[in-house]
Amino acid sequence: MHQPKFKGFFIALEGIDGAGKSTVKELIRDWFIEHGVEPIMTREPGGTPLAEDIRRVVLATHAEPMPTETAAHLMMASRAAHLSNLIIPSLEKGRLVITDRFCDSTFCHQGAGGMDVDTLIQMHELSFGKMYPDLTIVLDGDPEVFWKRMESERNADELNHFDTAGLEFHNFSRKMHRTLAERQPERYAVVNAEVNLEQVFAQIIPHLMVVNNHLRKRPTVRAV
Ligand code: TYD
Repeated sequence: MHQPKFKGFFIALEGIDGAGKSTVKELIRDWFIEHGVEPIMTREPGGTPLAEDIRRVVLATHAEPMPTETAAHLMMASRAAHLSNLIIPSLEKGRLVITDRFCDSTFCHQGAGGMDVDTLIQMHELSFGKMYPDLTIVLDGDPEVFWKRMESERNADELNHFDTAGLEFHNFSRKMHRTLAERQPERYAVVNAEVNLEQVFAQIIPHLMVVNNHLRKRPTVRAV
């Protein structure tokens, strides 16, 4: 496993639309609580009051199209507040932080939107240095399978303008998530999310056990 930079531990959960991220997130949170660790659950874009204000702008429908570069800068503006005001202070205190999406969402989504992925990585590193999650869990699978699953579960009114992106977009995004994971395997867990929820979570548990063992060695992070 990758050795964390801070006293705490930083997990990001990633996956294309319909992969089941929200449900898996709840299962991960419950698992840690059962094991005596109270995680800080957060999300991007957003996570702090300022970052949530930026989220509202990002996800709203505007009178003109939002250029991908605008989205990328807004995501990073939100991330700056999120890192400075929540994630880093929490990790310094030894807490477990679990975020629903982080920088890989920018690399994959704004990459799929036409920006050069290495430029996006450079933008991230110019702003935040090598501030990457200690573990990124990627819920992987065929976008078409996820789309069909989502269609049967979700109300069309609930979809925001990011959700309505086409198959090509999601295929790019999926491929990029996998490429990023291949570049730094010690920081990633790529999970097959086409199977049922129980089977998805069974693939994740061994990784949570490693994180829990790591946190056990640091008594300050234990829940009281
Ligand atoms: P949300 O409703 O939270 O989507 P989901 O439930 O799929 O996580 O909306 C967030 C949207 O923002 C989602 O479509 C992905 C997109 N996004 C980016 O395009 N770039 C980013 O860097 C992040 C963090 C999110």
